[in-house]
Amino acid sequence: MDSIFLKTLLGKECHRPPVWMMRQAGRVLPSYQEMRKHHTFSELITTPELAAKVTLLPVQDLGVDAAILFSDILTIPMAMGMEIDWTDHGPRFNNPLAAQQHPLRQLDIKPEKLDYVYQAIDHVVEQSEVPLIGFSGAPLTILCYMLQGISTKSTFPDAKLFFYERREETQQLINAITELTIDYAQKQIMHGIDAFQLFESHSGLVPIELYNELFLPAVCRITDAVRSMGIPLIFFPKGLGCGLRHITPDVCDFVSIDWQTSLTEAREMVHPEVGLQGNFDPHLLFASQDNIARTLESYKPFFRKHPRWIINLGHGVLADTPIENVHFFVDWIKNTNWK
Ligand code: CP3
Repeated sequence: MDSIFLKTLLGKECHRPPVWMMRQAGRVLPSYQEMRKHHTFSELITTPELAAKVTLLPVQDLGVDAAILFSDILTIPMAMGMEIDWTDHGPRFNNPLAAQQHPLRQLDIKPEKLDYVYQAIDHVVEQSEVPLIGFSGAPLTILCYMLQGISTKSTFPDAKLFFYERREETQQLINAITELTIDYAQKQIMHGIDAFQLFESHSGLVPIELYNELFLPAVCRITDAVRSMGIPLIFFPKGLGCGLRHITPDVCDFVSIDWQTSLTEAREMVHPEVGLQGNFDPHLLFASQDNIARTLESYKPFFRKHPRWIINLGHGVLADTPIENVHFFVDWIKNTNWK
């Protein structure tokens, strides 16, 4: 596969940075909005043909350099027996674990419940020549949702208290999530994904010492399992801040930087052998095209100095983003002389 995305990920210098966007498949595309009129979100992710179709929409409509599987990080708690409602205010679990006396006993882990994901990958691989990114959530982020039950309070107060008060059970839950995630990631690889992204959307929630003690070892178990199968790994620890200093080649091949962090400062903090992805502010895409072009232009010197860079946003693309600006952003990156 001749792909600028894979070449960059594997450390080869290219004439421009590759581009894709977190949440490119859902949220922003008119073709996705049209499909959502006929199907619930749950139908879209659990019906392999539909999930594959949505996965490829941004490649067809926007011309991005990689596809990301259309699914969700919460497939893991679903396969652990937790019942989920996809409400208009986000996902909600009916029995948040922090409220339970014996959270582990509530779980009924069935790895085969994730088979629809592998079937979706089969369909994408059959239909497309573009690299496919598989993904899962990292254990802290998954555990936040499982303990709290809802995402509306993104401070996850019950989950945090649980980490402090019930350390042994926290560790047991981390282990259970990590083991299922390793099986999930390795099966995604066996079905043909080309790269893997681990979403740690809430790494900024806990002090870095606690993160390093409890969660980073679990992240490394997952990233080792993925990389041992020859697949490059991108880690997205949103909100990690100065903790980026702990991101070494032992952890991942690329690290995705959030929009709050300066890319240049991130480059100084992260180990030089780890590539960077990111990190434009999703709100930049609401600004004028002149402004978007000026901002992109200002990154040319960065690319010339640090070609191990994949362009992305610093978090998911936002639902109301003007679609013409999303096109402009991608086209500008692909048509500009970066050298
Ligand atoms: O391009 C894509 O959309 C790829 C597929 C994808 C989804 N979720 C689809 C989705 C991916 C990679 C995710 C990851 C995900 N899911 C994360 C990590 C990334 C991040 O943004 O921090 C998290 C925290 C979740 C959990 C989740 N799923 C939330 C909080 C919500 C509700 C709010 C929202 O829209 O993000 C979801 C629902 C969800 N996941 C939607 C989509 C397209 C919206 C459902 C709809 O169409 O109504």
